[in-house]
Amino acid sequence: MGVFSTRQKTGQASSLPRHVAVIMDGNGRWAQKRGLPRTAGHKAGAENFRTIATYCKDIGIEYLTAYAFSTENWKRPQSEVDAIMGLLDEYLHESIETMARDNIRLRFLGDTSVLSPRLRALIDETDELTRHITGFQANICLNYGGRDELVRAAKAFACDCVEGKCAPEDLTEAKFPEYLWSSGLPDPELLIRPGGELRMSNFLLWQCAYSEIYVTDTLWPDFGTDELDRALVWYQTRDRRFGGLSEKK
Ligand code: IPE
Ligand code: IPE
Ligand code: MG
Repeated sequence: MGVFSTRQKTGQASSLPRHVAVIMDGNGRWAQKRGLPRTAGHKAGAENFRTIATYCKDIGIEYLTAYAFSTENWKRPQSEVDAIMGLLDEYLHESIETMARDNIRLRFLGDTSVLSPRLRALIDETDELTRHITGFQANICLNYGGRDELVRAAKAFACDCVEGKCAPEDLTEAKFPEYLWSSGLPDPELLIRPGGELRMSNFLLWQCAYSEIYVTDTLWPDFGTDELDRALVWYQTRDRRFGGLSEKK
């Protein structure tokens, strides 16, 4: 049982982020270190997502957004892409019932229209079955790219202007996010990057403008609930100034 689940029970959970985003990186290295094929790392990573999502829900986090496959990941060898898609299929197939049972709403961010008809059907079914759940939402970013999301949003707004639904001067920082895949979600207060890379890799470029960024060398399949606790404790020490001055004197 982690720090936060204990605190939650004693009513001490304070300043937890509402929304945690995670770049699930390091699966390949995790497998290679064990002399296993990279696919074994992706499988372990998918299992870890389940553990972390359940833990987030249990301690009172409202949203978890996880980067599962980027618009750039298609550059990988076809065999790895096929294996990842196969694992997704397997994962969603198993998750359809467990997610609804465990009170987890699953939503998908990214252009899923290019995925196989079978995967799309599973995505739609999962979405449909868990749509009514309001307590906790896990978002899986699939064929997601931050730049792609911004370009699509700009196009969609331009189309609305052309169709006379709105005018350029209607566009504000509050309105623009309505055109993003993440429409309706609060911005993540905390972004976690396992695997040690100090970059965004095209993830949530708009949404993470003021997120606190926690990077750890721990590889995603090893990033357990204790490590999440450490990230949350670290988050609670951050002085979030948003360009202003510290309230702590
Ligand atoms: C992240 O793990 C999963 C995907 C990008 C699909 P990687 O496969 O990038 O793992 P490393 O970074 O090579 O260890
Ligand atoms: C980011 O990891 C994408 C996902 C975790 C889905 P990558 O492994 O693709 O990122 P880079 O290539 O190291 O930037
Ligand atoms: Mg990687």
